[in-house]
Amino acid sequence: MRKLRYGMVGGGPGSFIGDAHRKAINLDGYAELVAGCFSRSPEKCRQTGDELGIDRDRCYDSYEQMAKCEAQRPDGIDFVVVVTPNVSHYPVCKAFLEAGIHVACDKPLCLSIEQADALCKLADEKQLLFMVTYTYMGHVTAKHIRNYIAQGKLGKIRTIMAEYPQGWLAHEGDDGGKQGQWRCDPTQSGGVNCLGDLGTHVENAVAMMTGLKIKRVLAKMDVVVPGRVLDDNDMVLVEYVGGATGCYWTSQVAIGHDNELRIRIYGEKGSILWSQETCEKVTMIDADGTVTERHRGNGGIDAGAALYGRLPSGHTEGWLEAMGNLYGSFIRCVRAKTDGTFTADMIDYPTVHDGAEGIKFIHACLRSNATGNVWAEVQ
Ligand SMILES: NC(=O)c1ccc[n+]([C@@H]2O[C@H](COP(=O)([O-])OP(=O)(O)OC[C@H]3O[C@@H](n4cnc5c(N)ncnc54)[C@H](O)[C@@H]3O)[C@@H](O)[C@H]2O)c1
Repeated sequence: MRKLRYGMVGGGPGSFIGDAHRKAINLDGYAELVAGCFSRSPEKCRQTGDELGIDRDRCYDSYEQMAKCEAQRPDGIDFVVVVTPNVSHYPVCKAFLEAGIHVACDKPLCLSIEQADALCKLADEKQLLFMVTYTYMGHVTAKHIRNYIAQGKLGKIRTIMAEYPQGWLAHEGDDGGKQGQWRCDPTQSGGVNCLGDLGTHVENAVAMMTGLKIKRVLAKMDVVVPGRVLDDNDMVLVEYVGGATGCYWTSQVAIGHDNELRIRIYGEKGSILWSQETCEKVTMIDADGTVTERHRGNGGIDAGAALYGRLPSGHTEGWLEAMGNLYGSFIRCVRAKTDGTFTADMIDYPTVHDGAEGIKFIHACLRSNATGNVWAEVQ
């Protein structure tokens, strides 16, 4: 089986998530990094390229040049990974789609609804694959919850409580370094900070686990730490199509919380409790209140979800394996595209259309917040 070739935009010196993507892809070794525009600075791009053993002639000064040159090479990249700050997701993804190259982009997909619609249209028209790396849907237990609910075992969903608190931007005068600076800068993050960074993860995880579609939201987006202009603590009431309700909280000022995405789903036949920091287990509660804790790797996990596990139970898996699982699914699809065996039912990762839902959610919240915290339809 041919190892696929991929390129990366972003992920230069001192960056956060690019290296995690590289490590996650390396878990299975299905694809090899051969090209990159790792930074806007050509010097820093070459520095990362040298560290990773990338040929100098495939370390590009700009993503435009990279898309053009890689599309023309007989041994060009099969897909690109986009891990730049949010402001550049749209132009970078557009350039690679136009060059006929499959795309994996980190969340949030882009800044505006118009950009999201344009990326969906372009990917669909060109029949290119487009994954948005909402990491948490790669967890075996998250897939277990999705499959369990899809089989009707929880009955009609009544209400959902979901939260994603972090504490890394809690202190006045501490801007969070390189990562905090662009997230809190409206020109870099599109007029939203915490809700774009964390709220889109909540929106996606709940949507993919439950299949519910948001009808309208009522948002209170607060700027808590003095000196900031964008939200760092958000509360959102949610109403789904069909009448179920939800309540989402995202925060970067919750001291003591590292990365605590937590979802509680309440249906007519029982409840499910899940936390990404303890993602090896999921708590299932039956209609009579009986509580069962299911562990990844044991027999109680849905068979389709269990296939994504790599190690026996108790040999702890986590965030990297979840990201690796998303890439495993995506790369299988890219390979099938190249050998003509692809069918849409092979997709088991968040797509550009799921990414667009996140952008619509953000903009409905922004409208709600700007008009006095009233209900706003998701458009
Ligand atoms: N899925 C997740 O769990 C997760 C976690 C963290 C971050 N993210 C997302 O990943 C993206 C990157 O976040 P980060 O924290 O790694 O940011 P970062 O600031 O640490 O890194 C960004 C990198 O992109 C480079 N860059 C910027 N503009 C560029 C351009 N035009 N061309 C080439 N390189 C460019 C920078 O030099 C830097 O190396 C964001 O969209 C963020 O929302 C996702």
